[in-house]
Amino acid sequence: MTATIIDGKQLAAQKRKQLTTRVEALVQRGVTPGLTVILVGDDPASATYVRGKEKACQAVGINSRVVRLPAATSEAELLAHVHACNEDASVDGILVQLPLPRHIDERKIIQAIDPAKDVDGFHPVNMGNLVIGTPGFLPCTPYGIMEMFKAYDISLAGKHAVVIGRSNIVGKPIALLMQREHATVTMCHSRTQDLAEVTRTADVVVAAVGRAHLVTGDFIKPGAVVIDVGMNRLPNGKLTGDVAYDDVKETAAYMTPVPGGVGPMTIAMLLYNTVQSAEQRL
Ligand code: GUN
Repeated sequence: MTATIIDGKQLAAQKRKQLTTRVEALVQRGVTPGLTVILVGDDPASATYVRGKEKACQAVGINSRVVRLPAATSEAELLAHVHACNEDASVDGILVQLPLPRHIDERKIIQAIDPAKDVDGFHPVNMGNLVIGTPGFLPCTPYGIMEMFKAYDISLAGKHAVVIGRSNIVGKPIALLMQREHATVTMCHSRTQDLAEVTRTADVVVAAVGRAHLVTGDFIKPGAVVIDVGMNRLPNGKLTGDVAYDDVKETAAYMTPVPGGVGPMTIAMLLYNTVQSAEQRL
């Protein structure tokens, strides 16, 4: 079997097209959606991601502003920037790029963001809504993965889904979202014993650990769906996933590539959340 490749790039382009229409309708009613991204320090990977978000905003007509702050910015200064964005009526979405320098308490910053502008879905209020199933902003990467399942008619009901990685950004929320769609979910992580034995029982595997090519063909049951959230930089500078692509594509029924899979969908859902937020202004 050779897997069908889930084309995140194409799906994201489709989403952006739909969003452009919604932004045009908003602009006609006097509302230009605004996203402010705050980037602290000069981590090259973060700078690249932020540029990608800026470009995507421009493509759909969202007013994007990037606040670039030096690595030595104090927690109090960063909090002041967040508070200013909370108060600014032209800002519909606030995103503080992670990771932050070590002297800043990430949790404190996330909690300072107005939950109604938390387009990352990281605020405890939005996380809590996700847990109990009430409406709120969904974190962009898991949201993008759920959109991929929908677009490729991949039903989760009754399926065994295995998540590798228990981060707040991906692992925990994707487990909840798949459970909401009636999957039986198993969470695996660095202390899981015999990981491959667990993943071989999975109909769906979501790899979100940040270890290049951890998931090889022998981890995968024939016909499974494999979602690769990894964004690992190889010594030669190339971006690669958590899944050994060439190996797994011979066993899986569907899989996402890196690049061109989950990454573009994550950005598309950020734009989606921002437009959704702006529509609340009407
Ligand atoms: N760093 C890596 N991924 C993300 C993300 O989705 N949002 C933010 N704010 N920072 C990140």
